[in-house]
Amino acid sequence: MYEANADSYAEMMDKEIDLPVYKDLLGRLHENISDIPGALLDTACGSGHMLAMFRSNYDSNRSVIGIDISPRMVEIAKTLIGEEGSVVVGEMRALPNISSGSVAAVINFFAIHHLDIDDIRESMLEWYRVLVHSGHLLLAAWEGNGAIDYGEESDIVALRYSSNELIEIAESVGFIVNRCLVVPVEGFPMDAIYLECMKQ
Ligand SMILES: C[S@@+](CC[C@H](N)C(=O)[O-])C[C@H]1O[C@@H](n2cnc3c(N)ncnc32)[C@H](O)[C@@H]1O
Repeated sequence: MYEANADSYAEMMDKEIDLPVYKDLLGRLHENISDIPGALLDTACGSGHMLAMFRSNYDSNRSVIGIDISPRMVEIAKTLIGEEGSVVVGEMRALPNISSGSVAAVINFFAIHHLDIDDIRESMLEWYRVLVHSGHLLLAAWEGNGAIDYGEESDIVALRYSSNELIEIAESVGFIVNRCLVVPVEGFPMDAIYLECMKQ
């Protein structure tokens, strides 16, 4: 679905990236990692808007790495982020090319609904591994239970999780959960969860 719709997804993100919630979250992340060396890694970067906004609004010196399973998304993200970013096709659950303890922050926005609960745990363990000590994880997900109904759009399987489930997984792999925000999103029938975690 994402591969076929990558261009229209990127156009949608051109507008959505201006939502105040993203500026607030990325601004807070910037402050949280300002003294921490290492790259900012987006493990399902899509069209690359989050990484591009972080660089343009907050820190153009921080190196950024984007990973996405869709080659077309990666192509678009490369164009948006430019030469200074590293964007590659890859899998959010396993990061074999990223060294342990090398990354200041991991972000993952609205992608874990494509994983089952065991894969979320496996992914969080992997993100914990690549973070430096005191590094940060910023996770956005859809709150709820059961499958998301895409209607006619797609028969893709996508799952919602409760904030408590995600907090339990984050804490079980070793994260400290600093903040959990559950808020409505205009135009969507589901609340968003924004989880801010730190590696201890
Ligand atoms: C809703 S989009 C979100 C993209 C981006 N994070 C954003 O907020 O604009 C979900 C993204 O997750 C990617 N994705 C889905 N499964 C993935 C996986 N197992 N590993 C890496 N990326 C994946 C899709 O290709 C798509 O770009």
